[in-house]
Amino acid sequence: MNLLPMAKWFTCEKAMKIQITWLGHSAFLFDFDGYRVLTDPFLSDNPAALITESEVCPDVILLSHGHGDHVGDTIKIARRCHAEVISNTEICKWLSANGVEKTLPLYHSGTRQLPFGSMKAVNAVHGSALPDAGYGGVALGFVLTAKDGRKIYFAGDTGLFGDMALIGEEGIDAAILPVGDIYTMGPSESIRAVNLIKPGIVIPMHYNTWDRIAVDIQSWEKAVKEKTAVQPIVLQVGQPVLL
Ligand code: NI
Ligand code: MN
Repeated sequence: MNLLPMAKWFTCEKAMKIQITWLGHSAFLFDFDGYRVLTDPFLSDNPAALITESEVCPDVILLSHGHGDHVGDTIKIARRCHAEVISNTEICKWLSANGVEKTLPLYHSGTRQLPFGSMKAVNAVHGSALPDAGYGGVALGFVLTAKDGRKIYFAGDTGLFGDMALIGEEGIDAAILPVGDIYTMGPSESIRAVNLIKPGIVIPMHYNTWDRIAVDIQSWEKAVKEKTAVQPIVLQVGQPVLL
């Protein structure tokens, strides 16, 4: 029998349907009972993406940092769908100057209440320059908490850092971690991260988009099973899974 952590027994909210779809690289579509959160929507120029920016219409876009492989189609999608964009203060100002109507700035430990639950910004060890070389503040990760208490940690682009253990103390159900190396953690450091965060499941991202971040994901999956107590879930692009 699987016992839920204590805090989750006391929630009055009934379980939500949480669907996760990987769109390639760091782009994910989270569907919380119909409320759609899109992360780092790099689709048009993404060789791993199966859909274009015109095929998604989120309620909110979560943008972890300013690099082109994350900003991607944010402006186009936000303008077409009138979606709010959550990012750091500097990126929100840049988006506003580029015609995005609604932005919600967030910085480390800041939390926003949203219709599906809440969103908190956490640390990420990475840069954040914008595609036009403007200052993009600092990179962020996010913890999404559904109204039923379940938590998803979307790490963004990051290297390994010890305070991932603090994020893990919150009781993470799903951790989405970069594993592609070069710009972020590679496979072995991502496994150290899994052991700090101790999530229910771990989903890899930011790999195999280009040759330089190629990863043998079956070996990674095997290593997670051997070296941690956490279940790895390797998603196929475009194939939704329920949390
Ligand atoms: Ni980056
Ligand atoms: Mn990146």
